[in-house]
Amino acid sequence: MCGIIGAVAKSAITPVLEGLARLEYRGYDSSGISILANNEIKTIKAQGTLSNLKQRLLSQALEGDCCIGHTRWATHGRANVTNAHPHQCGQVSVVHNGIIENYLQLKQKLIQWGHHFNSSTDSEVIPHLINHYLSQQMTQEQAIKKAIAQLKGSYALGVLINGVSNNLYAIKQGSPLVISQGNEGAYMASDAMALGADSGKIYYPKDNELIKLNSHEITLCGGANNNEIHYINNKHCAKLVSKGTRSSFMEKEIFEQVDLLKRLSVNNHTSEYSTINFKDLTKITIIACGTSYYAASVAKAWFEKYANILVEIDIASEYRYRSPIVTNNELAIFVSQSGETADTLAALRYAKSKKAQTLALVNVVNSTIAREANFTFEIYAGPEIGVASTKAFSCQLAIFYKMALEAAKQRAFIEKAELTQLALNFAQLPDTIEKVLQRCAEIKSMAKKLCKYSNILFLGRGALTPIAQEGALKLKEISYIHAEAYAAGELKHGPIALLDEHMPVLVIAPKNALTDKLLSNIQEVQARNAPLFIIGDKYIREHIHLQEDQFFELPAIPESILPIISVIPMQLLALYSAQILGKNVDQPRNLAKSVTVE
Ligand code: G6P
Repeated sequence: MCGIIGAVAKSAITPVLEGLARLEYRGYDSSGISILANNEIKTIKAQGTLSNLKQRLLSQALEGDCCIGHTRWATHGRANVTNAHPHQCGQVSVVHNGIIENYLQLKQKLIQWGHHFNSSTDSEVIPHLINHYLSQQMTQEQAIKKAIAQLKGSYALGVLINGVSNNLYAIKQGSPLVISQGNEGAYMASDAMALGADSGKIYYPKDNELIKLNSHEITLCGGANNNEIHYINNKHCAKLVSKGTRSSFMEKEIFEQVDLLKRLSVNNHTSEYSTINFKDLTKITIIACGTSYYAASVAKAWFEKYANILVEIDIASEYRYRSPIVTNNELAIFVSQSGETADTLAALRYAKSKKAQTLALVNVVNSTIAREANFTFEIYAGPEIGVASTKAFSCQLAIFYKMALEAAKQRAFIEKAELTQLALNFAQLPDTIEKVLQRCAEIKSMAKKLCKYSNILFLGRGALTPIAQEGALKLKEISYIHAEAYAAGELKHGPIALLDEHMPVLVIAPKNALTDKLLSNIQEVQARNAPLFIIGDKYIREHIHLQEDQFFELPAIPESILPIISVIPMQLLALYSAQILGKNVDQPRNLAKSVTVE
């Protein structure tokens, strides 16, 4: 993953540091900058979050008009200062996002040529290669191109060269990169969200297009025509998002869900969804990773139940490598908050090559996945900063719900009256979410008890199984408690062997046609002395006697919208457990928000 940024502007360090703050969601185990000041490149790096780098920069008055920066998520080499970017060789400094697969061969060759390496990264070969070719009297452009020609893998690079002229270059192969010409300078970054107010116009370079950035001009190198640079408006020309009075971005984003759902229920985007011809579809395939995959799993239940469409779901990293069959008239939906997840993007390219119609469901509308799909629907969640996805999940579900109703309408599978009722159910979401959030103290008490355990089993049934899975994922992501989720009916086929007084079980237990079966599963848990926690309907409480802090009563709401409501206590449970355990809620260890490597 990693985030890269570069600026050619007066006091270039300011937009670079601001951009790094916006990019931290791509990785935060170390960061660094290189700046051209007084005719030399100065590189400063620090281990840990960006605040550590800023601390180091305090003691140095660094002024310069050419700067690159990097925030890292370690792939090759531990998270330490030496492995942090930028990597410098002589008067060449490089920031890299991606993976250079043949770096070991290149490193060996460079060592034979007399180069010395400091880091264990794959990236360090790049400045060495460029430096080597510069020493052979090649021009800057020739040296970069010759070096690039030898790289195998994916990369987006910012290259700073201090030479006869001082220049910042950008180039990419497979990894995301955006360029912007503003009024006060020129910028490059991993994504548009990293760029500040002076970047209203952006350009997404093609693979292997070498671009030179000056404060007054952006040039395509190698004699290419600059008219080939087609700028579009930057919809993410972002102010720095603040967490306001909340203790973390994740908390802010959980509580934002009321307003977001309010907006989604007022805005009628159905005309947008009617651009899809659901009537003639033979199949929908939904592909995603992580939390987005669980949204896909809930969507499958809705599309099947209300529109009678065959739906397959798949994890992107599996789909892309298993030669899946794409049928005639198939719609392949790619769900991604960031729109940059490498596996999801590769899966999209596969489906396109097999002639499926492709639809991107994204939060970032200028993202690569959004740009490459035939159709793009936005989830309107606004920037999500917390690494553990919360509001994006409920917005994904909300859009899927609306799409399923549009599909139901087109295919006339359910009665009109039922369709109207399902649409009315949606309008109940904001108030119901608000009511659940107002009772957050109850979840905090549950978290106090639950977070003492090292392992937790989550159970759900039907469309609530993915909610149990999402609950378990949230908990392990930010509290590091080991949590697994199962469809409740599967308990007896294995996980029941784990149950004893040290293995708590949390059940999502609504009142529906399967309640009695679920009650039997709950009895099986109690019979084995496993501590029981329930997020469920009042009816369940009447049958199972539990202490106050082991039962959270779900509001009485229609079953169709239950997945969107029942995930809220799950998100709070993870948040409070992590807080009680003193973990960094927004930046959990080893994770990154946008996963642009395989
Ligand atoms: C990472 C994030 C998850 C996210 C997943 C898919 O693993 O940590 O929160 O669900 O990527 O991301 P996407 O942007 O494609 O939804």
